[in-house]
Amino acid sequence: MSPLSQNKFLAFFLLCCALTCTTLLFSFTFSDPPFHFLKYASRISGSFFSKDICACDTCMADVGGDAWLADRFNQSILPLMTRDNSALSDDTYRWWQWLQREGNPANYTRVVEELFRLIPDEGGFMDAGPQRCRTCSVVGNSGNLKGSSYGKLIDTSDLVIRMNKAPTKGFEKDVGARTTHHVMYPESAIDLSNTTSLVLVPFKTLDLQWMISALTTGTIRGTYMPVKAWIKANKDKVVVINPRFIKYVYESWLEGHGRYPSTGFLTLMFALHICDEVNVFGFGADQHGNWHHYWEHNHLAGAFRHTGVHDGDHEYNITVTLADKHKVQLFGGR
Ligand SMILES: *[C@@H]1O[C@H](CO)[C@@H](O)[C@H](O)[C@H]1NC(C)=O
Ligand SMILES: *[C@@H]1O[C@H](CO)[C@@H](O)[C@H](O)[C@H]1NC(C)=O
Ligand SMILES: *[C@@H]1O[C@H](CO)[C@@H](O)[C@H](O)[C@H]1NC(C)=O
Ligand SMILES: *[C@@H]1O[C@H](CO)[C@@H](O)[C@H](O)[C@H]1NC(C)=O
Repeated sequence: MSPLSQNKFLAFFLLCCALTCTTLLFSFTFSDPPFHFLKYASRISGSFFSKDICACDTCMADVGGDAWLADRFNQSILPLMTRDNSALSDDTYRWWQWLQREGNPANYTRVVEELFRLIPDEGGFMDAGPQRCRTCSVVGNSGNLKGSSYGKLIDTSDLVIRMNKAPTKGFEKDVGARTTHHVMYPESAIDLSNTTSLVLVPFKTLDLQWMISALTTGTIRGTYMPVKAWIKANKDKVVVINPRFIKYVYESWLEGHGRYPSTGFLTLMFALHICDEVNVFGFGADQHGNWHHYWEHNHLAGAFRHTGVHDGDHEYNITVTLADKHKVQLFGGR
């Protein structure tokens, strides 16, 4: 053979090799298990084939190759307090104590010890895996829920998480009727049904003491404002957000915007950490740009947005970005 046809032969041979390899790889990839290649690919490239992470179509825990997400989402930070993880570093404790400038706080360690004699010490939710597809509805309190008819859709999720003073009675068509978790702090507390889990967000040691008191003696009646002395709630279903988690949300997700995260944003982050699929309702303004609660008639009542404590714009920006990345599904007003 001439050098030219030798080269041609070599090129042909290489082409055949390449084709064979591709075909083999292709059939290996799309045959039934083993799915090794796909599993590996999904770790790198994200949500397409995340069946090894959870049983939903897309999995919250799958950050794929998204650097923005990977920079912020730290799944080793557990949202709920247990006896074991309750101890705070000096740094975290000082930051947390500063949030609401509590003077003369009680001994945190002792209060936590007393609290866990009353409520379960379980942590919970950390059962993620290929068998689990936990869907969640996070229901904010925006007036954009009015007339939305989202009620049925909200209620179909495994967990329905509401917050603060949110009522359902009389608003079922738009906001749903089920509540598996209700996130609150002493100043925003309402009575709950026996089947709902109270999720306490403590912003000071007194909030932990209030939780004990509100379920037992009713002696604490005020913080920086009057609070409910007693609360109707199932003490076997009370859980507490770890101050360490609040600090992580503030630093990692909000990058120091505002003084600390709002309950709405903390609730969304809680859902990110415990759910496989997150549906978000009632966040943001209504179609007229008003920031009021769905149960209020006064459209000017939305003082909660610009309190100087929370950066609502930044929080909403993060929420929208998560939706753009298809990590959460954001149901806007309509
Ligand atoms: C996540 O948090 C853990 C515990 O604080 C820390 O050790 C780890 O470095 C963090 N990971 C990232 C990627 O920031
Ligand atoms: C708080 O109480 C714990 C346990 O009773 C004790 O070890 C600790 O020294 C106390 N801390 C302070 C600051 O008094
Ligand atoms: C509430 O639930 C607990 C179990 O979590 C049960 O022991 C208690 O009897 C229930 N209370 C009511 C009023 O149904
Ligand atoms: C969020 O803020 C960033 C930086 O300020 C900006 O580039 C981006 O467009 C904003 N995204 C949304 C959805 O508002």
